[in-house]
Amino acid sequence: MGQVAVFESVKAMRAAVAGWHAAGEKVALVPTMGALHQGHIALVTEAQKHAKHVIVSIFVNPTQFAPHEDFKKYPRTFEGDRAQLEAVGADAIFFPPVEEMYPPGFATRILLLGPAAVGLDDRFRPTHFEGVATVCCKLFTQSRADLAVFGEKDYQQLKVVTRMAADLDLGIEIVPLATFREPDGLAMSSRNRYLSPEERALAPLLHRVMQALAARLRNRDDLFRAVGEAQSEIITAGFELDYLEARHAETLAPVTSLADGPIRILVAARLGATRLIDNIAV
Ligand code: PAF
Repeated sequence: MGQVAVFESVKAMRAAVAGWHAAGEKVALVPTMGALHQGHIALVTEAQKHAKHVIVSIFVNPTQFAPHEDFKKYPRTFEGDRAQLEAVGADAIFFPPVEEMYPPGFATRILLLGPAAVGLDDRFRPTHFEGVATVCCKLFTQSRADLAVFGEKDYQQLKVVTRMAADLDLGIEIVPLATFREPDGLAMSSRNRYLSPEERALAPLLHRVMQALAARLRNRDDLFRAVGEAQSEIITAGFELDYLEARHAETLAPVTSLADGPIRILVAARLGATRLIDNIAV
């Protein structure tokens, strides 16, 4: 595969995109915070199906981390990331320094309602989606990409970004991609590398519990009882549970039975210092 270009400025990225667009060629963006794993590479491969050129942004976005969260220790592995992106044939990496994204005086945030205010991750990370939406909005307008690919692993994020792109007429299509999993079912995440061997062995339980819960709901088991028992199983296994809920798959509103529409099960739980999130369709 050819060398992947690295753009550190919006100007350089836009010049490349303008050239591709002038040739009538589509451009896809894959937003990431680096520390790439097979799940990210699957996003790039998906992007390549939709567009001739793929830009992967690597930016650990400070505005989506609360002061007590892992911004400082978030893994930064640029050389390894670059090698993986070269191997998969990505065209370019957008790797801006923080001042390119947030110059002195930066004072804007996006106010989110709808799927960003449903009492799931927003309840535990109250400023997180505002930071995600702000940086994604910037990445979309900076790159002028035709589409962006997001993983379903961060399901609430996917819904928030999709809503924002539509509501603000950002002129970009959001393409979702199913969660990439380890063979034992654990959803791939850059944060999995924080897990101790014991925590790593326990972590796939989340997926197994969600699968069993989904089967019970499909069999029209009582939703409140089934969700409550699944929550207890996770807590008894040693997780600190933030939430395990059955929600409407599109609006993320609470549901009371299968009749309330397509259902998504969403979970967030902590093992030691590591917070894991996951979700599956019912
Ligand atoms: O999902 C992520 O890695 C981040 O939230 C994103 C979308 C790159 C924004 O910083």
